[in-house]
Amino acid sequence: MPKIKMTSIKKKYDNKGEEVIHDFNLDIEENEFIVFVGPSGCGKSTTLRMIAGLESITSGELWMDGKLVNDVQAKDRDIAMVFQNYALFPHYNVYDNIAFGLKMKKYKRSFIKERVEQAAEILGLTKYLKRKPKDLSGGQRQRVALGRAIVRDAHIFLMDEPLSNLDAKLRIQMRKEIINLHRRLGTTTIYVTHDQTEAMTMASRIVVLNDGYIEQIGTPEQVYNNPQSKFVAEFMGSPPMNFLEGSVKGNQLMLDSGEVLGELSQSIGDVEKVDIGIRSENIDIAAHDTGINMTVNHVELMGADLHIHGNADGKEIVIRVVPSEKVAVNEQVSLRVNIDMVHLFDANTGKALFDREKVNA
Ligand SMILES: Nc1ncnc2c1ncn2[C@@H]1O[C@H](COP(=O)(O)OP(=O)(O)O)[C@@H](O)[C@H]1O
Ligand SMILES: [Mg+2]
Repeated sequence: MPKIKMTSIKKKYDNKGEEVIHDFNLDIEENEFIVFVGPSGCGKSTTLRMIAGLESITSGELWMDGKLVNDVQAKDRDIAMVFQNYALFPHYNVYDNIAFGLKMKKYKRSFIKERVEQAAEILGLTKYLKRKPKDLSGGQRQRVALGRAIVRDAHIFLMDEPLSNLDAKLRIQMRKEIINLHRRLGTTTIYVTHDQTEAMTMASRIVVLNDGYIEQIGTPEQVYNNPQSKFVAEFMGSPPMNFLEGSVKGNQLMLDSGEVLGELSQSIGDVEKVDIGIRSENIDIAAHDTGINMTVNHVELMGADLHIHGNADGKEIVIRVVPSEKVAVNEQVSLRVNIDMVHLFDANTGKALFDREKVNA
């Protein structure tokens, strides 16, 4: 039995209202670090709150450690939660903020002390136990919030956008700290974010949500290399995947302009309208005329590589090349696409037309 099992879970906020979570199915194993990712309003918090017991489950089943918990109250579930707004008590020092939940549960003083000191040690807060929240940095405050979760010794951590209030640099640092914490404690974690980079860098498995539906479940590599829908392809990865429109005839992949992009190594039959997805790293500037042209409209040196933005076949695209590549704004360049790395999606349904992983295996 998995640590958490969700079967056919649905959510309506009231009986007349619209369903916001549709048929959610997921098994989570012990020690996994699962990230729910998707745009604002797709249902991440609703799903997490149902797992926490803070929101009722309209239908379906939620199992934890082999027990059906649909009707178990939040306080009786074996979870600890960290929110975006981790509101610390301003008049309490760090020690008392971390100890708060344990004091409420009337644990012995010595036990609380041991737990809080241990958590503070893990989080590098030992020196700050006497400080008030106002005398801490944003990152230290977020660590105190994590401390509150750790001392509860729960077997499941639920985190809802815990880093969104921090500036970019601190977010990256806290990302590492949370991953290290997970590595050290091994606590099964569900982490919610709208930030695809957080999902890619932190997750052992990602659940991509869109409008209350699961679009895809997979490791970061699977989701990036083998997106099963155009939605996932567009949402995951930075810069976002490029899209051109075309068709497949025989095994020829053609742009709507009539140019042949290349020969597919797999047979998918003729397709009248395909969305052709190409990651920026899979397009190069060709030395000769390929017939696929791009007018450069912006060049960004990112340090290790150069992002060239332009217009090709009526679409805005961005390609990623070595910094030594010489191009100027308004110049027209010829493109070479790595045909073995393109992703094809049905233009009507958005579904992937083949598994890139399987083809390239
Ligand atoms: N308390 C609520 N009452 C009614 N509808 C809600 C409530 N909370 C969220 N929703 C709706 O449920 C959907 C999912 O919201 P939410 O789970 O907060 O998304 P996310 O966390 O991915 O941004 C949205 O359409 C939102 O408007
Ligand atoms: Mg939310």
